[in-house]
Amino acid sequence: MVAIYGLAIMDVIKNRSGLRSRLKQWRFQNPEGTIALVPTMGYLHAGHLSLIERAREEADLVVVSVFVNPLQFNDPEDYQNYPIDLNRDEQACEQAGADIVFAPDRQEMYPEGEPLLQMSMPALTANLCGTARPGHFEGVLMVVARLLNCVQPDVALFGKKDYQQYLVIRRMVQDLDLPVRILGVETVREEDGRAMSSRNARLSSSGVQHATLIYRAMRIAEKAQRDGNSNAADLKEIIKDVIESGSLNRVDYIEIVDPDTLESMSALPGNSRFLIAVAVFCENVRLIDNILCEV
Ligand code: PAF
Repeated sequence: MVAIYGLAIMDVIKNRSGLRSRLKQWRFQNPEGTIALVPTMGYLHAGHLSLIERAREEADLVVVSVFVNPLQFNDPEDYQNYPIDLNRDEQACEQAGADIVFAPDRQEMYPEGEPLLQMSMPALTANLCGTARPGHFEGVLMVVARLLNCVQPDVALFGKKDYQQYLVIRRMVQDLDLPVRILGVETVREEDGRAMSSRNARLSSSGVQHATLIYRAMRIAEKAQRDGNSNAADLKEIIKDVIESGSLNRVDYIEIVDPDTLESMSALPGNSRFLIAVAVFCENVRLIDNILCEV
């Protein structure tokens, strides 16, 4: 029998029951077929498209969820300002090869209102965005657990720009023994080095110029370490100076951490493996980025 995977025409489904029955039908027709989930909050950019394209390579059916999850915003203004354009997202998903877009609204995603269950992972959220955005990862864990439960994919893909999120989700899946592979995909960058982010759309042209300092600063620090400066505090100072040489930038945090445990590192001798992670407000738009430094 020749297996016909994927769908001829992309489906846009707005409710959980519709999604479940569509997937049930597909599984019945494709018993050997595999499903990939790409969770997003929409306003898709090239970084998301690379996740969808990679998902296409990893599985036979690609589901992209588009849902701006209110539970993960510690700042209501940030939630209100989060850009939304579902029509544009649908077109982008179709072009990138998605089969199903799942776009529930808040009521559909949380029909019982705010969940009473709290999920948290103190060990991996004791710094970086865990402390800078109280409640953020609790909201992420909840929505990702619900999406995984709804889609029951074989693989789910996450961008490593949100490195802490990727680790936290990977660990949740291990701890709950969920039968899904979590795949982290490298950050996609603009030509000027900025990490792709839906939030970039909120920057003015001067904001864009200043935001380029973020990636540059991390690379300068990496080079300083390779050239022999093993003091993490010094490197953080270098990063801060470069970033804040842009007057529109305000550092939220700069951390140098162990890439597996996310614990702070203070000494970085020779061939150390470390992650530089930063969060910066540029024109009040909060941007995060990181680089993994390993020889
Ligand atoms: O990375 C994101 O866009 C979101 O945090 C996610 C994983 C889709 C959960 O809302």
